[in-house]
Amino acid sequence: MKMRIFVPCDAAAIAVGADDVVTALEQAAEKRGQPVQIIRTGSRGLCWLEPMVEVATLQGRVAYGPVSVADVPSLFDAMASNGPHPLRLGVADEIPWLKRQTRLTFARCGVIDPRSVEDYRTHGGTKGFERALSLTPTEILTEVTASGLRGRGGAGFPTGIKWKTVADAKADRKYIVCNADEGDSGTFADRMIMEGDPFVVIEGMTIAGITVGATKGYIYIRSEYPHAVIAMNAAIAAAKRVGLLGSRIGGSSHTFDLEVRVGAGAYVCGEETSLLESLEGRRGIVRAKPPLPAHKGLFGKPTVINNVLSFAAIPFILAEGAKTYADFGMGRSRGTMPIQLAGNIRYGGLFETAFGITLGELVDDVGGGTFTGRPVRAVQVGGPLGAYFPRALFDTPFDYEAFAARDGLIGHGGIVVFDDSVDMAKQARFAMEFCAIESCGKCTPCRIGSTRGVETIDKIRRGERVSDNVALVEDLCNTMKLGSLCALGGFTPYPVMSALNHFPEDFGAERKPLQAAE
Ligand SMILES: Cc1cc2nc3c(=O)[nH]c(=O)nc-3n(C[C@H](O)[C@H](O)[C@H](O)COP(=O)(O)O)c2cc1C
Ligand code: SF4
Repeated sequence: MKMRIFVPCDAAAIAVGADDVVTALEQAAEKRGQPVQIIRTGSRGLCWLEPMVEVATLQGRVAYGPVSVADVPSLFDAMASNGPHPLRLGVADEIPWLKRQTRLTFARCGVIDPRSVEDYRTHGGTKGFERALSLTPTEILTEVTASGLRGRGGAGFPTGIKWKTVADAKADRKYIVCNADEGDSGTFADRMIMEGDPFVVIEGMTIAGITVGATKGYIYIRSEYPHAVIAMNAAIAAAKRVGLLGSRIGGSSHTFDLEVRVGAGAYVCGEETSLLESLEGRRGIVRAKPPLPAHKGLFGKPTVINNVLSFAAIPFILAEGAKTYADFGMGRSRGTMPIQLAGNIRYGGLFETAFGITLGELVDDVGGGTFTGRPVRAVQVGGPLGAYFPRALFDTPFDYEAFAARDGLIGHGGIVVFDDSVDMAKQARFAMEFCAIESCGKCTPCRIGSTRGVETIDKIRRGERVSDNVALVEDLCNTMKLGSLCALGGFTPYPVMSALNHFPEDFGAERKPLQAAE
């Protein structure tokens, strides 16, 4: 009987040798005369176990990892006999790190062949699309709004309101744009879902198109994601072949088509208006708002622009109903968040869970503390514009409002962990430097302020007139926060001020570190 073996083709797995493991598995099979079918899947998100190899058994798919080429001969025999092996992790679905997740968006990622529409359908794909076809645009809007879904790109804006604005706009053409620029440090969920379950992104965008009356969509992917570009292009071609994209999609009267566009690489091109400039073939520079993209977006037409994860959440919401989605979460943060654990962390990877889990649970329990084994000193949540949180704030629940109340943000759900060797004054300088390098240059507080910020933090680090210069940094941060045109300049104060407030000792400054209760 043919052995069915699953090996990720996700970029993270390939980076640690997944392709070589596949070659070794094929050689082992040939040598033993054992017929095999090797299926390339996405990643299940347990990055420290990659390449994680699975084999189909009567008990379910049994996982092994991390597998190297040298492990393959013994691994192959263990897989063939379903016998013991030092790398055996047990039935994949029963691995505690996976089992304690609530995978609504990532349910199929790491499970299916991302190139197979059939596999997608077998695992519940297109159910949301089919339901959407049976509803009116207004009914779809009601579902999306009732789900409580908020944009996963960072700002957390309600998706239903955005879609309604575009649906209500009168225009001869409208567009759907997927923001796959994913520039935040420590984030990779967009890449993972595009590589592991690209059809869910296509399905979400298609439902958006039907809802607002758009017939064309673009997926803007950063150039650093070549595997995602290939995966999305292959999935678009496959969807066209089976009539899920093009004219009369799914046998309906709707037309919807998609194209991938590759960005040249600039953090600011993730900002929606800058992205639209880039998509139109110009330099990525931020546009003044209003007009909002929902009124005047791509090529001056009403445009829905959403993050990859926002679109990827839509098929579940339509398939299972808004209430099922909204039943997860806390407060105004409904549903689940695919959280990305990165940096100096023992168990790094993609962990999808309902909002409400605390930062401490994520870092200590799920993440297992630091990779180096040293104490955790700080975590930066929400990318390069996110705040640094000390242990004292580890009781903060993962929720938009709870983080905002503590001068932080959850952004795109990236958590970057640092141990006690981190120099927080250096991190604050890095935030200013990052802003200076990535600034689009359109407004003065960001363009000039960030450079002055670097210079002033350098003075503090050299011990020059520390309290005067700390006051200057505070003043500068205030100006950047209030006077910048977009969040690149406007949010850089978060990492800078949180480093200063929570870790004043690293600046030689006299300040009382904030306590959890404050
Ligand atoms: C400097 C900057 C970079 C951004 N980068 C991204 C990004 O990489 N991906 C993303 O989805 N949103 C990014 N955003 C947020 C977008 O401007 C926008 O809010 C988002 O695409 C809207 O989609 P959503 O409502 O689904 O979150 C960025 C914003 C700023 C200010
Ligand atoms: S804040 Fe920075 S990136 Fe944003 S518009 Fe101003 S100069 Fe450009």
